[in-house]
Amino acid sequence: MIRQADRMAEVHSDIRGPLYEEALRMQREGVKVTKLNTGNPGIFGFEMPDSIRKALTEGMERAVPYSDLRGMPEAREAILSYERGKGIEGIGADDVYLGNGVSELTGMALSAILNPGDELLMPTPCYTLWSNSARLAGARPVYYRLDEQSLWYPDLQDIRRGITPRTRGIVIINPNNPTGALYPREVLEGIVEIAREHGLLLFSDEIYDRLLIEGGPHWSTAALAPDLPVITMNGLSKSHHICGLRSGWMVFSGPRGEVREMEDAVTRLAAMRLCANTMMQLAIPAALADSESTRALIVPGGRLYEQRRITLEALCGVPGISVVPNSAAFYLFPKLDTALLRVNDDREFCRDVLHATHILMIPGSGFEWDEPDHLRIVMLPPPDEMKDVMGRFAEYVRQRAKQ
Ligand SMILES: Cc1ncc(COP(=O)(O)O)c(C=O)c1O
Repeated sequence: MIRQADRMAEVHSDIRGPLYEEALRMQREGVKVTKLNTGNPGIFGFEMPDSIRKALTEGMERAVPYSDLRGMPEAREAILSYERGKGIEGIGADDVYLGNGVSELTGMALSAILNPGDELLMPTPCYTLWSNSARLAGARPVYYRLDEQSLWYPDLQDIRRGITPRTRGIVIINPNNPTGALYPREVLEGIVEIAREHGLLLFSDEIYDRLLIEGGPHWSTAALAPDLPVITMNGLSKSHHICGLRSGWMVFSGPRGEVREMEDAVTRLAAMRLCANTMMQLAIPAALADSESTRALIVPGGRLYEQRRITLEALCGVPGISVVPNSAAFYLFPKLDTALLRVNDDREFCRDVLHATHILMIPGSGFEWDEPDHLRIVMLPPPDEMKDVMGRFAEYVRQRAKQ
């Protein structure tokens, strides 16, 4: 037998894991399954914005050769102006790296700095790209709690408790997946202060920063920490719903001397993969000049706004479910009353939901959450479908609570 590498042992993806396989099996048997496992707007009818379609059509020929290893100059200029607009200072075109989604860049950034045995602080619940990428680099994810009682903001004491001599950095995901929380300035400043005291690198995943359902502002961590090394990640998968084009970027900021070695390592990794997909690079200047396409989704009457309203209404008063409404992105992370609903294993609960309602949802444990008492709802189906889907889910939970 060909054995897997040891470092793969703890790499997992529930979002596309056994429950997803089960949903595919049901589909092959002719069952219509609503797959709420991924934040992939395109499969729910979110179309490519015209601004991007035009840029791709007109620029296609320029996408033929490999680009610069960091990315096309015009794309990096557009990103620079966007990130400077968010208050990040002292950055230049060479500090910007384009990647095949934030996913690729996260792997590159973590491989560039982590050694076996190193630790990286990250939230629980956590989008597992971060925990898996740390493990692949041989390091250990150490979790700090997001506090449901405080609108899912990070628990600063827990961050402090997690620091050891092996800690290399702190990951912030803001707005957050899976909670949909948007962090206020004070909370971010608290994390920045901890990083400053302990000499830690900050990673800030800001891919949902344009999807602010309850308004902003969104504070970029790097703007609050000009004196610290910060790596900011962002991309177009969510705001312009072009997940399949794989469009992401990463920006180094902070004191030059401190990030130089890491930038050098990332540059070699970027060179190894030659360049990021060039079609998506063409999309970046057009997308960043087009905030209207995104805004139209999040204002009252817009799709994301309405889908969220419908979901929250459907969950209201359902016995055994409580939820902190999201302020951004398109996720909810409701809590299950495990006693009332008789849940010992959240994966089993989601399997029951799948079989009974034909809705695929991902259990909290798929987000490195260590209690069996949460699941994530992706609010992407169009309003009418969302109403139907959530109605079925709410009815299932009501019946289960009665038994
Ligand atoms: C917090 C977070 N970061 C990164 C990503 C990956 O994005 P990309 O499509 O740019 O690889 C996702 C996708 O769901 C996400 O939720």
